This record gives sequence, structure tokens and C-alpha cells, in this order.
Amino acid sequence: MEKFKINIDKIYGFVPKGEIDSMKQEMEACNSLVHSGQGKGNDFLGWVNLPSSITDKQFSAIKKAAKNLRENAEVIIVIGIGGSYLGSKAVLTALADNFDFLKHKKKDPVIVFAGQNISEDYIHELLKAVKKTDIAAIVISKSGTTTEPALAFRIIKNEIEKRYGKKQAAKRIVAVTDAERGALKTLSTQEGYETFVIPDNVGGRFSVFTPVGLLPLAAAGIDIKELIRGAKDMEKATGVDVPFENNPACIYAAARNALYRKGMKIEILAIYEPKLLYIEEWWKQLYGESEGKEGKGIFPASVTLTADLHSMGQYIQEGERTLFETVISIDQPQHEVIVEEDKDNLDGLNFLAGKRISEINRMAELGTQIAHIDGGVPNIRIELEKINEYTIGALLYFFEKACAISGYALGINPFDQPGVEAYKKNMFALLDKPGYENEGEELRKRL
Ligand code: PA5
Repeated sequence: MEKFKINIDKIYGFVPKGEIDSMKQEMEACNSLVHSGQGKGNDFLGWVNLPSSITDKQFSAIKKAAKNLRENAEVIIVIGIGGSYLGSKAVLTALADNFDFLKHKKKDPVIVFAGQNISEDYIHELLKAVKKTDIAAIVISKSGTTTEPALAFRIIKNEIEKRYGKKQAAKRIVAVTDAERGALKTLSTQEGYETFVIPDNVGGRFSVFTPVGLLPLAAAGIDIKELIRGAKDMEKATGVDVPFENNPACIYAAARNALYRKGMKIEILAIYEPKLLYIEEWWKQLYGESEGKEGKGIFPASVTLTADLHSMGQYIQEGERTLFETVISIDQPQHEVIVEEDKDNLDGLNFLAGKRISEINRMAELGTQIAHIDGGVPNIRIELEKINEYTIGALLYFFEKACAISGYALGINPFDQPGVEAYKKNMFALLDKPGYENEGEELRKRL
């Protein structure tokens, strides 16, 4: 495993080290449950060995489909919601240049996302933005019946068919869905779309290393083999045979559960590199949907620092003491910018002259860490050497594995999401979907 470190030294003022050490057996047992398939939700463990089991044939099929899309489109619209879009969005954002969107001549197609909201303005503005651009679409839905992506796809499909004709349109659309079930599968078969399968035993939020994540990423020109190499090394590093003290997933799961048991109910994921913003969003879905059930679970929140030190910083420092913070710390930036000396020094910043911006960022990070600890906020640190395909692959797998262990330690099924159905039922009733008439009437009285 190339450099990846979890550092929990700074929680010991809040939870004695002995208490964490005494969780060794419990965490190893939870990790065993993930591997033995004896725990709750054991029909959704297909993600555990995904990185080590992906074959060259699967890579080739994904790359071939991606090549076809890349050759035919300047903009590829990826349609999906939740686990069917956050993984690829997270990796893409992490690996992209912050100002990619300003580049006029691009060697790779631009990836845009749709189907993750029901905003009329969003879909209108998207269609307007790509009016004079060659487009293609990747539509992703495991169930094949989720309203948001289905709605967006209906509109985008029509647009593609209008422009290129039905036959050519079918070559510009690739679907990722269930092998047999769901409206999207039926539609893809009927229209003759190329399809990729989301395995039955992999839930949406654990699907980034299936074609759900890999196809959009390959279409964007990301080195998916390197991403998987990172994930595979992390699969090994968090394996069932790796003892607690060397197993970063077990350590993270122990630390956050120990803090939770002491009343720290909110975990804030903090980043100092803005391009990790969607890693935070992906992480929030992973942990929120996996753990928040049966009246239990750590609430996952996030901040982008140092920006949010000027908004949420006050609360973190002095608000209700139910928080702990997990920082993703990056050792080396990709570029070098040095602060110049200014002869007038009107801004008073000459004390920083000659320093790299990253050095200043690091001191902000370390200063914040100490301030937050002094303010009563325990701090976990995840250290990556740099941001690249390998480290991001490792990071995502690390979070998945720790989430499963952590969920088992909490005593819940980390792989279902029964609560997501409540809003859908009400929305369908309010929209008079056939079969929901009575509920609709009842709900309207309550509006
Ligand atoms: O993690 C999950 O299972 C969910 O967040 C799903 O990814 C999300 O609801 C989208 O579902 P689907 O891919 O079936 O459209």
C-alpha cells in the first residue's frame, strides 16, 4: 500500500487509548462478518472483493464503450442519482483541474450530470448549453425505476433522437442497470442500447468500482486501472486477516464508534483541497444512508476549509459539543506557487514571502486542528500523499470498508435504505400516480 495513513492520536484526550485498544476484538469481529457473510444485509456484499476480481475482459468492455462515446460526443450526459452518480462525480471532481470548465479546447469530452434533481431550470439550461454540441448519454439506475433519472432520461433521450434519428441515437446511449429487472432494462433491450450490469449483490452507494462509476470515468479519460489498483491495495490492507492495529478501516470504525458512544453524534468531514468536495458528498451518502436508521447513527456533515472556517468555523469551535472532525489531509499539491516579496508590504504579508501556498495551507490545517481540539472537537486525520487515481481509489474503498464495519458495530444493516421510500410514496400520491389515489387525498388535506 502506497502512503495512506489514519491518525487517531488526537482523539485520545476524549477517549482513552486503552478504550480504543479494547475495541480490537469487536472491530475484528465486525470485519469478519463482512467477509463471512454472516451479518445483516449479507446479500449486498458483492462490493467487498470487487477491486481484486475485476477482469481484463471487463476493463476492455468498459473502455470500448467509453471510446465509442468519446469519439462521438463533446459532452457526455451522465444520468443517475445517489449511488448512481456520486461516485463518478466525486472521482472526476477530485482528479480534474479546478478550472477545467474554462478550457476552450479539450482533449476529453466534458462530463455533465443530470437526473439527480427535479429542477426544470436545470434540465432546460442543460439542453440549452449543449444545443450546438455533439452529445451522448450514460443512463444509470440499478432499480431502473427511480423517478429523477427516469424523468431526465425521457427528456434527454428525446433530444438525442430528435437530433440524430432513432437508430443513431441508440449508438449514443449506454445504460447501466440490473441484468434482468426494471423499466430501464426493458427500455434498453427494446431500443437496442449497449448495457452494463450492476451486480445484484452491490448496492448503489457501494457501486463506484462497477460500471456505474467506471464507465463515466473511462469516458472522461480517467485511468480506471490505476483507480482500481488503489482500491485493490486497500482491499488487501483492510482484509479480514489484517489485525486491528494495522487495519485502517478497523481503526477508523473504532474511533468514530467510540466517539459516538461518548455522545459525539455528528462527524464533520473536512477538506483543505476544494477538489475533494464531491468526495465529501459521496461520503455523506455512504455513511448517512448506511448508518442512519433505527433511531441511530452518526450524522455525517462536511466542510470545505479554509472557506468554511469563515462560516461554520464559529459553530465548530464553540457550538454544542456533539461534534468530531475527520480531516482528509493531502501531503503534496500537484503544482507549486510561491508567495513573492513585495517592496511596499502594504498588506503586511512579507512574513510569508518565499513560502509555498501549500505550506500556509498546512499551517492553517494544523492550527485549526489544535484550535478545534482545544474547543472540544476530537480530530481524526486521514493522510494521503497526493491526489491521483491510485490514492482516490484507495480512499473510496477505505471508506466503504470502514462503513460496513462501523455499521455492524452500530448493530444495524448497513446495506439497506428503507427510509428512502417515505418521500417517494408521498410524491407519487401527490402526483396522482395510479394506485396512490387514496393516499393522495389524505396528503392534500395535510398540506
Ligand atoms: O445507495 C443506494 O442504493 C441509493 O442511493 C441508490 O443509489 C439511489 O437511490 C439510486 O437508485 P437507482 O440506481 O436504483 O436509480
